[in-house]
Amino acid sequence: MRLPRRKFLRQLVTFAGAALCLPRLRTFAQSHGHDGITTSAITGLAPFVDALRIPPVLKPKTVKKVDTYAMTMQVGSVKCHRDLPATEIWGYNGIFPGPTIVAHKKRAVSIVQTNNLPMSHDGHETGEMAHMLPAVHLHGAEVAPDSDGHPNDGIPFGGGTREYLYPNQQRACALWYHDHTHGKTGERVLKGLAGLYLLRDASIEAKLKLPSGAREVPLIIQDRSFGLDGQFLYALNPPTVEAGFQGDNLLVNGVVQPFMPVETALYRFRVLNGSNSRTYKLALSSGDPLIQIGTDGGLLQRPKTLVSLDLAPSERADIIIDFTKLPLGSQVVLQNLNGAGSTAAIMRFDVTKRVKETRKVPAFLQPWEELAESESVIVRDFTLARQTIDGALIWTINGKAYDSANAPLASPVVDSLEHWNFINPTNHPHPMHLHLVQFQVVNINGVPQEPSEFGWKDTVVVPPASEVTILVKFGKYTGRYVFHCHNLEHEDFAMMGEFQVLPKP
Ligand code: C2O
Ligand code: CU
Ligand code: CU
Repeated sequence: MRLPRRKFLRQLVTFAGAALCLPRLRTFAQSHGHDGITTSAITGLAPFVDALRIPPVLKPKTVKKVDTYAMTMQVGSVKCHRDLPATEIWGYNGIFPGPTIVAHKKRAVSIVQTNNLPMSHDGHETGEMAHMLPAVHLHGAEVAPDSDGHPNDGIPFGGGTREYLYPNQQRACALWYHDHTHGKTGERVLKGLAGLYLLRDASIEAKLKLPSGAREVPLIIQDRSFGLDGQFLYALNPPTVEAGFQGDNLLVNGVVQPFMPVETALYRFRVLNGSNSRTYKLALSSGDPLIQIGTDGGLLQRPKTLVSLDLAPSERADIIIDFTKLPLGSQVVLQNLNGAGSTAAIMRFDVTKRVKETRKVPAFLQPWEELAESESVIVRDFTLARQTIDGALIWTINGKAYDSANAPLASPVVDSLEHWNFINPTNHPHPMHLHLVQFQVVNINGVPQEPSEFGWKDTVVVPPASEVTILVKFGKYTGRYVFHCHNLEHEDFAMMGEFQVLPKP
């Protein structure tokens, strides 16, 4: 058994003890949103006073047809809002969010990650930090297990390095890389360890004439609370372990409620929900639709015209917004219909220039390849639950809290198709994510679904008291991978399991 679990359970038992003062915590949570933070947070930051920033795109060195990068995880500092002092962050290359990687289909990328993060003093002494090493996971990628950022494959502090190799043989899509330290993913992603990775396929995207250049814009949406000193607040306590951590301010690309000047044209937004646990319902204040062209795993078959769009933690949406009909001076707010007060508005688009737009939203995007359900032989059930283990109330899959010493919860065979049934009897939604694959959503609560409507997914929300069935095709890679709830506090508090892909018998 790995040590972190023990340390973990000790932390939890501490909260379990603290459970006696729950009523007090609740009162506090009521006056400070629902994050259960015990330090006072800054409130009332003015919206739309800072311009949107775009994370820089890193330039690779090309060595033997492999685009190679070096990144360093280190402390940095960032201004998130005009009226806030600088916030200390943990970032890839010391920035928040991390730099964007632009990859090309069938052209491999190698990233050597170096860990120059500060080691916390408690860990230093106990040696338990040895198992709390940061691993880097490329979310949505089809990669060999040793490049997947398995929590057991963390990078040592003090300048340790690891090379990750991404073959990029899969469908083009927006992926993201983020920390995957077991038991600390929530805290470390919140500190800033996340960035975007766009996998392009010129043969498809160029023909479609989608908005590009300055009109293709990444939007990484995250929520944070700031202490009076401008630092990120984070708290693990019974309410945050139950519902997940939520911040009181919405940030896009590291800026609190930014504004973005736009021209009267079509824009393509690569939206990522990089929040620990908050689900957004995106909509435009103008009443204009969001035109969704892609999901986690790439382009849809045809665009979908939506009044609002739900985005759970780790989900991506590729959307087009048409600003062509708006008068100069218009201001359009990207709203979060799930929010209230400071969490109701995400950012604002300001129409500042009239141009002639010649592009159109294509009527057809890419052929849909439906997985053949009849070929699926294995059906697996995964029950998601909240239960008391060793005196702490935590999250489990099939009765098990994650421990890398556990036997895998599933052992699919290479190139096989399987039905995975997620059964959620709890009163919380669980955005369930599988590493290694993009899957199709085939059934919700017994009602057959049209998978092409959902598009390719690596994360699916399993609503409270619901059952969701997905169809998964395992590819050529064998080995151990994790799957988990992407509410990061649920993940850290053990709602994770492993599957082991086996070679053909
Ligand atoms: Cu973004 Cu293991 O996940
Ligand atoms: Cu992942
Ligand atoms: Cu969950």
